[in-house]
Amino acid sequence: MRHVHLAVLLGCAAFATASPSTAQNDQRSTKDAKVLILGGGVAGVIAARTLHRKGITDFLIIEARDELGGRMQDYTIGVPGKQYTIELGPNWIQGTQTGNGTANPILTLARKHHVKNQYNDLDGSITTYDYNGFKDYRDLLDTSINQFTQTGVVAGERVLTQQVDLGLQSAYGITGATPKNMYEAACQYYQVDWVREYAQSPDQNSWIASAWNNNFTYYTDMGGFSDENNLCIDQRGFKTIIQAEAAEFLQPQQVSLNSVVTTIEYSGDGATVTLANGTTLTSDYVLCTLSLGVLQYGDVAFKPTLPSWKMEAIQSMVMATYTKIFLQFEQNFWFDTEMAIYADKERGRYPIWQSLDHVKFFPGSGLVFVTVTGDFSLRIEGMEDSDVQEEVMEVLRAMYPNITVPDPVAFHFKRWNADPLFRGSYSNWPPSFLPGHSENLRATVDKTLWFAGEATSLKYFGFLHGAYYEGLNAGEEVAKCVEGPVCAGRQHLNSVVDASPYPFVSITS
Ligand SMILES: Cc1cc2nc3c(=O)[nH]c(=O)nc-3n(C[C@H](O)[C@H](O)[C@H](O)COP(=O)(O)OP(=O)(O)OC[C@H]3O[C@@H](n4cnc5c(N)ncnc54)[C@H](O)[C@@H]3O)c2cc1C
Ligand SMILES: *[C@@H]1O[C@H](CO)[C@@H](O)[C@H](O)[C@H]1NC(C)=O
Ligand SMILES: *[C@@H]1O[C@H](CO)[C@@H](O)[C@H](O)[C@H]1NC(C)=O
Ligand SMILES: *[C@@H]1O[C@H](CO)[C@@H](O)[C@H](O)[C@H]1NC(C)=O
Ligand SMILES: *[C@@H]1O[C@H](CO)[C@@H](O)[C@H](O)[C@H]1NC(C)=O
Repeated sequence: MRHVHLAVLLGCAAFATASPSTAQNDQRSTKDAKVLILGGGVAGVIAARTLHRKGITDFLIIEARDELGGRMQDYTIGVPGKQYTIELGPNWIQGTQTGNGTANPILTLARKHHVKNQYNDLDGSITTYDYNGFKDYRDLLDTSINQFTQTGVVAGERVLTQQVDLGLQSAYGITGATPKNMYEAACQYYQVDWVREYAQSPDQNSWIASAWNNNFTYYTDMGGFSDENNLCIDQRGFKTIIQAEAAEFLQPQQVSLNSVVTTIEYSGDGATVTLANGTTLTSDYVLCTLSLGVLQYGDVAFKPTLPSWKMEAIQSMVMATYTKIFLQFEQNFWFDTEMAIYADKERGRYPIWQSLDHVKFFPGSGLVFVTVTGDFSLRIEGMEDSDVQEEVMEVLRAMYPNITVPDPVAFHFKRWNADPLFRGSYSNWPPSFLPGHSENLRATVDKTLWFAGEATSLKYFGFLHGAYYEGLNAGEEVAKCVEGPVCAGRQHLNSVVDASPYPFVSITS
């Protein structure tokens, strides 16, 4: 049971930033903060804003990096005089707004802070290649778009009849759309692994959840925003949406940067968080927004160990990797469309190309990037940059057999899976992950330990707007607990035994 602490409600703002706690048996009012928010990405910052809006100021964001934004990270690429800010992490506002309908909250933040973004034509502005150069298979792409839509329609029928989930690979088989050659495979890759951003192949994806995730974001009749994607090209970086938002409410004493959490000790009475330098911080509540990959890898220790239902949920969702490889050339010699697809004998080998040296983005920049995902991302993370560059150039030279393709003047990619603060790019819902697992991923432990982030979003896992809505919701629910008198927490299933698709899953404590 929770107590209300008047000292805090009366505005006792005497919390210290990351100061060592004094005693084991602290009174509630002498804890370092009411709420410790672990992680300063979109979920953490929006949760903090929600507490702030509810008049709760006694919180502290603990962030390992030297800035807020989390996976919203940029990089300056280019030779002197031709330098550009490019996005290593999220780049698109996915689903924008239709008429006066619901706007993607990320678009709303971009509008508010004047963060420049530009419609990116991912379906219409595409050139297609294979290893002998240009080859027109655009018609196959159109077919592939329809085939993906069809898997979503049949998924909807499965949900209505409460049939169990299967892999997306099975959906392609059942609907008679399994790719039969490398061109069809490249087009399917474009749809599933890339444009829908699952960053994993169809056999690694849930059939039903991939349809939900797509519908909830892109189809207005299911509450989605629009079917458009806008590319952020702001030279301050996409992260500006969250940093400028934080600057409006966050006080310096409410955030502790360069602070790596190593241990989270929790009980029904509160929590003690230990940082890498030995500092301990106490609180009534902890909101953990660390990436699913970090939780899976065990970078942070929980004391006591998390209950088995929570561990199962954490280990059942999957962390996928999405890697953008940037190149700058003296001069543009490539396609004049926004996008290009390269079909290789090996599915997923440097398949998706995007021109930034385009009138809509950075004309004259000499910039182009290629994206790889999933297992191929892990493969190149293990290679030297120079070896990856060599492979990429081999592909580019195959795409342009009649041109002497020069070496790039700049080359860069980030290894998201190897980064101990992320351990991948974003979560993906595999066929063995069930709606009960998703509820358990969000559920509280001992009413003290809360979880939020893109991975806890049933509808929008993987997306920035998923992280946003989860931060908002956790902020609201934690605020209710802080205000008291009762803290309900989020309920969980002790074991997941029901494979019925959401929304028919019933949650009991
Ligand atoms: C390459 C890539 C491309 C993407 N593309 C898109 C896109 O185009 N559109 C889109 O909508 N989404 C995209 N995403 C997904 C999007 O970036 C995420 O959904 C979102 O940023 C997640 O926010 P979050 O707050 O849940 O987590 P995070 O941003 O990961 O925040 C968690 C924070 O915890 C910190 N942390 C980790 N460990 C510790 C520790 N031990 N101690 C203290 N702090 C710690 C991290 O530094 C981080 O700041 C992409 C992601 C990647 C990586
Ligand atoms: C959207 O809202 C504006 C201003 O309220 C109004 O003028 C316009 O007619 C609306 N458009 C639609 C499509 O509803
Ligand atoms: C996804 O949207 C399509 C088109 O609106 C619909 O037919 C289908 O039932 C939806 N699928 C799911 C799983 O919600
Ligand atoms: C440990 O880190 C915290 C937060 O970054 C800082 O406030 C504190 O001074 C550090 N303590 C030591 C002993 O370095
Ligand atoms: C490249 O050159 C070959 C041989 O001259 C020619 O057949 C082919 O059409 C050319 N390809 C392109 C893309 O120009």
